[in-house]
Amino acid sequence: MGLRGKFNLSLLVVFLIGIGLVGAFSWRVISENARSEVINEAQLITAEAISVRGYTVNEIQPLLAEQSKTRFLPHTIPAFAATSTQRDFTKAFPDYTYKEAALNPTNPGHRATAEEAVIIEQFRKDPTQKTIITTRETPAGPVLSVSRPLQITNKACLSCHSVPGAAPASMIDVYGPSNGFGWTLNEVIGAQIVSVPMQVALTRANTLFFSFMGGLTAIFAVVIILLNILLHFAVIRPIRAMSALATEISAGDGSDAPEFSVNGKDEIASLSQSFNRMRRSLVSAMTLLES
Ligand code: HEC
Repeated sequence: MGLRGKFNLSLLVVFLIGIGLVGAFSWRVISENARSEVINEAQLITAEAISVRGYTVNEIQPLLAEQSKTRFLPHTIPAFAATSTQRDFTKAFPDYTYKEAALNPTNPGHRATAEEAVIIEQFRKDPTQKTIITTRETPAGPVLSVSRPLQITNKACLSCHSVPGAAPASMIDVYGPSNGFGWTLNEVIGAQIVSVPMQVALTRANTLFFSFMGGLTAIFAVVIILLNILLHFAVIRPIRAMSALATEISAGDGSDAPEFSVNGKDEIASLSQSFNRMRRSLVSAMTLLES
């Protein structure tokens, strides 16, 4: 294999190993970033829902306390406020969903699906667990869900969720006596589940990754082309010329060929000088011998 072949082969091997390592590492960083970006979005939505719940309890409930005695106003219910506001949010961002899923919900629309029930059971088994992150594939791409337990930590909740007799009759008129009762203090009755599509973040991560790798490959290509040009003019061409001249001289018909031209001050230039010197001595030795 020629000098150029050896040189290019070793550069290619270094490049392939380098790009493999850099690629694996940067893909990990970029995809982890995309994932934490999505988790962050989900956590923002959860925090928003928690604020709406708090606002409803602290501001709306006292305000409507008088009216609530004569007529049941779901607007004073934190779950109602949180799910209603998030429903509007979902109109603007259809792929983002918020659900207060319960195993035995007051509003049947909040009943946990089989998958959600698995998450709730996990929270019930281990009350110290505060977040569960899951992903699932959908036709529109992967969806990430961040779930938090819904635990009854306030006795006041039980007025509407323990036994139908304790709940306002006006509430029973609307929701009936069979759903959303039997909850106990400190029980995890459900989970707040925020689902966020990952497709946008993944597409962005892919674009970033491929532009980065494309950039690296382009830099490598430019470097290898420049090095090849340099190798050709600075090493291969002078060596080829020198070797052709040496062949001619060794065959005995190059003694009147012109001196090898020396350009620059690098190693090849000093090799050409030595070559010229050697050739001159050889020619004078031959002349001596012949005379
Ligand atoms: C005045 C009665 C009342 C009180 C007090 C009350 N809730 Fe509710 N809760 C309801 C009603 C009614 C719904 C159904 C709302 C809807 O249709 O979205 C509900 C829904 C929920 C839901 C959603 C799942 C479901 O059952 O539909 C959760 C979770 C919940 N409540 C938790 C609590 C917690 C925690 C407290 C105490 C901080 C509490 N509730 C206090 C009446 C009440």
